[in-house]
Amino acid sequence: MIGLSPWRRRNATGLCYNAAMRFDVLTLFPGMFAGPLNESILKRAIQAGTINVVLHDIRAYATDRHRTTDDAPYGGGAGMVMKPEPLAACIRAVLSMAPETGEPSQPPVILMTPDGEPFTQRIAAELATCARLVLVCGRYEGVDERVREALIDREISIGDYVLTGGELAAMVVIDAVARLVPGVIDAESIADESFSDGLLEYPQYTRPAVWEGRAVPPVLVSGHHGEVAQWRRRERLQRTLERRPDLLTRAALTEADRAYLRTLGWNDPTVGEGAEHSAATKS
Ligand code: 6GU
Repeated sequence: MIGLSPWRRRNATGLCYNAAMRFDVLTLFPGMFAGPLNESILKRAIQAGTINVVLHDIRAYATDRHRTTDDAPYGGGAGMVMKPEPLAACIRAVLSMAPETGEPSQPPVILMTPDGEPFTQRIAAELATCARLVLVCGRYEGVDERVREALIDREISIGDYVLTGGELAAMVVIDAVARLVPGVIDAESIADESFSDGLLEYPQYTRPAVWEGRAVPPVLVSGHHGEVAQWRRRERLQRTLERRPDLLTRAALTEADRAYLRTLGWNDPTVGEGAEHSAATKS
C-alpha cells in the first residue's frame, strides 16, 4: 500500500501548476517501449511535457565481461532467474538520480510480475496521484526474492495469464495511469467511463443514421436529453448484468437502477434472503 508519502502529487488547488508525472522504467528490452510511446495520446503527452518516461537498461548495470543479468535457480528447475546485483544497482541508481524537474526522489518501486496484485482502475487512479513511479520489468522465471524484499514496494500483475516479461504489463500501467494525469485527456472522458462507477459503458453510435440496413436507436436522434440519459443508464445496467454481473455487487446503484435490474431477472442481494447472505459475507 502507498500511504501518506512524499510521492503524492499536490492537488490542483491552484498552488501546483506543474502536473507532470515521471515514469522510470527498468527493463532488459528498452526497445519494446518505442512503439507505444511514439503514437497517439502518450506521444502527445510526452511532447507536451505532461508525462515523462525514462527508460533504464538493466544490462548497463551488469559488471562482468558478458554483461550477465540472469543465472540458474538455486535448488534446480527450469529457466533462469534475474541476478540480484545488476537489478539492485539499476534500481538504486534510478532512485539516486537527482530529478531535473523536482520530481520526488522516494517514488514507489513497483515490480511487474504475474504473482502481483491484480491491476484495476482503482489502482490506476491511486498511482496517478503519485508524481513519480518506478516500474521494474521482470523477465525469465522471475527476480531473486532478496531484491524483492530489499527494494520493491509493491507488485502488480495485469491479469491471470503469463507474459514473456513485464514490459507489456508496464506499458499497460503507464497507459492507464497516464490518461488519468490532468491534461492528458479531457476530464469529461474520465468522469463517465466504465469502471469509474462500477458499470460497463452504454453502446455508442455515430453517422450514418442507417448503416447496411441497421438504424441507430431512435431515442438517440429524438432530441430528448432526459430519455437519452435514461436509455443509456439502462443499457449500462443490462450490459453489466449480462457480461459482468460480479460488478453489480460493488456498483453505485440507485433504487431505480435496482428496480430496472429486477425486471431483467436480477436477484437483488439487498432484498429478502439475499440480504442476510450479503450481510453475512461482508463481515
Ligand atoms: Cl506484470 N508480468 C508477466 N511476466 N506476466 C504477466 C504479468 C506481468 N501480468 C500478467 N501476466
